[in-house]
Parts: sequence; C-alpha cells; structure tokens
Amino acid sequence: MNIFLLGSGGREHALAWKFSQSPVVKRVYVYPGNPGMKSEKKIELIKLPSNKTKELIHFAKTYDINLTVVGPEAYLAEGIVDQFIQAGLLILGPSKCAAQIESSKSFAKKLMKEAKIPTAEFEVFEDANAAFKFIDNCKWPDGIVVKCDGLAAGKGVVVTENKESAKHAVKLMLVDDVLEINNKKIILEERMIGPEVSVFALCDGKNSIWLGDACDYKRLKDNNIGPNTGGMGTYSPADWLTPAMRQEINQKIIQPTLNKMQHDGTPFTGILFAGLMKTKDGFKVIEFNARLGDPETQSIIPLIDGDIVPYFLAAAKGQLSTIGKSLKFKALSTVHVVMSSFGYPGTEGTKVRTGDEVEYNKTYFQELEEDATAKLFFAGVSEKNQQLLTAGGRILGLTAFAKNRPAARAEVYKHLDKIKINGVQFRSDIGL
Ligand code: AMP
Ligand code: GLY
Repeated sequence: MNIFLLGSGGREHALAWKFSQSPVVKRVYVYPGNPGMKSEKKIELIKLPSNKTKELIHFAKTYDINLTVVGPEAYLAEGIVDQFIQAGLLILGPSKCAAQIESSKSFAKKLMKEAKIPTAEFEVFEDANAAFKFIDNCKWPDGIVVKCDGLAAGKGVVVTENKESAKHAVKLMLVDDVLEINNKKIILEERMIGPEVSVFALCDGKNSIWLGDACDYKRLKDNNIGPNTGGMGTYSPADWLTPAMRQEINQKIIQPTLNKMQHDGTPFTGILFAGLMKTKDGFKVIEFNARLGDPETQSIIPLIDGDIVPYFLAAAKGQLSTIGKSLKFKALSTVHVVMSSFGYPGTEGTKVRTGDEVEYNKTYFQELEEDATAKLFFAGVSEKNQQLLTAGGRILGLTAFAKNRPAARAEVYKHLDKIKINGVQFRSDIGL
C-alpha cells in the first residue's frame, strides 16, 4: 500500500520512518516533507502547486494512496478530513468539528465540564472589563493562567502568579490584540501545580489504544527557563507513571472524552493528545490536541514494537475493536534532544538564524541506527547543491534508545558533538 503523510517536521520524519518499515508499505509520500528525510528507503518527497485540499485530494487519487495521515493541526482545523472522506479517500484524523478539541479551548473546556473530565476551573471572556473584575475577585490560590481561545502557535498561554500580571496578559490579548485573536475570546484558568505528561491515544471514534506517553521540555533553556517553545526535548515512557495511573488516565480522561464526543455527534477519530498535570487531586487535563506531539513522536514512535500501519488503518476505518489487542512496546527508554537555531522561538523579538550548513557524519549515524542505539530525525532544514542548510526553528533532533532513561540520556549526549552547525542551541538537561 501507499501512504500519504502531510507535514515537514521531526514528527513527520519519525512517522514516515516507522511507516517505511512496514512490510505492507510500498511507498510513503510526504508533502512537503524536508530534505533530511530523503535518504530513507521508500520515502519520497512530493511537490504540489499549492497546499490546497483539492491538490492534495488530486494527488491521493492519482498516486493510489491507501491511507493519508495528517501531522500538523492546521489542516485538521481547516477540515481536510471531511473533504478527503467526501472524496472517498481513507484518512486518519478528526473531522473539522472534532478538531475543535484543539482549535478551540472553550470547546474543549465546555466538553470537559459537561462530561466531568478533571481539568482546571475556568471562565470564558470576550470583554476585558469583565475579565479584570473576575481577576479582582478571584480566589484561585496558585495564580491565574490566561489563554486565548484559538490556535496561537504556542504563544497563547500566559501563566501568571499575581493579579497584576494576569490583568496585563488580558490587556495584551483583548485590548492591544497582540496575538490578533480572531474570535476575541480568552479563557481565565486556575493555575495547577504538578509534573506534566503528554499522553497519546489512537482513536477510532469509539475506542482507543495507548500509543505512548512522554515528557516534553517546553522551555528553551536548561532548568526550565527562557521562553516557551514547541518542545526542546522529550523522554519516553514517562517512567514515573504506574500501570494504575495509566488506567486512571484511560478511565477518567480518554474514554469519557471519546464517549462525550460520540454522544455530541462529533466522534473523535485520529490521535488524541492529552496534555496532563499530576496534581494533588489526581490527573487533570491542561489541554487536548488533535494530533501527535512534536518532539514527543520522535521519542514514542521508536518504542512501538512491530508494524503500526494496521493500527492506523483500523482506526481510520473506525474498526480498532477488530484488531482486538493493544500495541507492543519495546522494554526500552528513549531520550530525544532537539537542536534549534539561535533566535528560536522568535517570540521575544529575536530573528531566527537560517542558512547555516548542517554537517554530520552520515556513516556514523547510519551505524548508530543499525545498532538500534540512536536515530536522527530532521525538521527545519533546506537543501542547496545537495548540502543541507538550517531553515529556522528546530533543525533536527537525536533520539537515543537504551535500557532506561539515565542510560538513554547518557547515550544521546555522546553523539551530539558529531553534528556540526553554526549558531545552534540545545538543552543539556533533557531526561534528567
Ligand atoms: P498549553 O498550550 O495549554 O499546553 O499550555 C502551555 C503550558 O502552559 C503547559 O504545558 C503548562 O506548562 C502551562 N499551563 C497551561 N495551563 C495551565 C494551568 N491551568 N496550570 C498550570 N500551568 C498551565
Ligand atoms: N510538544 C508539544 C506539542 O506538540 O504540542
């Protein structure tokens, strides 16, 4: 069969690499992909006149695509899944309506409230004065989190510790409109305290199976300082989760979410990504996403033992129950470290550096891959005269596999100096 994968980051490199190992897969076409993926067997990058859905549908029909998988959320929020299904094509992902679980925080919060899924207390506001008044009377003990309602590329959340800074964040979002929020809606949320974990469930509208769990390091610098990023590294599994905790998460969060969405006529098919916090009152949802995480995928996908394609196909067809078994996981841990360009994430007025040569010893990393020690995944790279260049943001990441987290951490940091790029930054405390 042929798979069509949309996206261009490290997440998509990891997915395409995993798909390419499937004995049933002939070709993995990636749009637009990145040139760092090109050396993989069976993977082909494609060019299209535009990223309009009708071009993607035309490609899928012409190239005999049996399954389309969507990486980034933007396609989902625009309704790509509805249009592919209408065109008679099999695609894994939620409908436009169901994707609101990520694209609209107020949709997600309302759903959680109605289904009694544990999450932080919240109120939705469109009027700044009403929000200021609420903040003046607010009794949440640990502070207030200010969030814009829609997708904001990781910039829409401000965690505040006092009322003044909460008001300032409200002013920036609702009065000054610095994020250019299109629906002028914000959410004020109780600040929760505790460790965070990203959990991934492959869903078919009714049922789900556990795809993996990981801890993401969101801040740019060591010791969790600096601006929020898309993620500077991960480890998997979240080894402090016990089987009982995973069961609690399934029973109190994942399954009730699927039940509620089915009941409301917006069943969720695809990958449900629950960002959770372990509070003193149990696990609570910080946010839901309608896709895999980046860089979580680069640490969870390599731990899946065997072929993932039959599971993705069954989920897309609404038939996970016919598979009747959960995935098998390797008894290993992974640690993934991201290298990003100076200036990333660019949210503090800094210019993200691009155009530096990406030098690495191909044979060295090929051998690491063959020994199942480590695997390089490329993200923000371009190509000129067969030379890889940095193209801004997160350039690449290395995942190491070992018997436990400390060993995987030691392994990953042994190899990073074999990658030579000017103007890069990476954290030295991933997996600690
Ligand atoms: P989000 O974009 O909703 O995942 O939020 C980004 C980050 O903000 C999360 O990973 C948390 O670290 C933090 N955050 C969001 N909501 C809360 C909350 N209610 N309490 C504490 N931290 C939060
Ligand atoms: N690493 C977090 C995300 O993909 O949203």
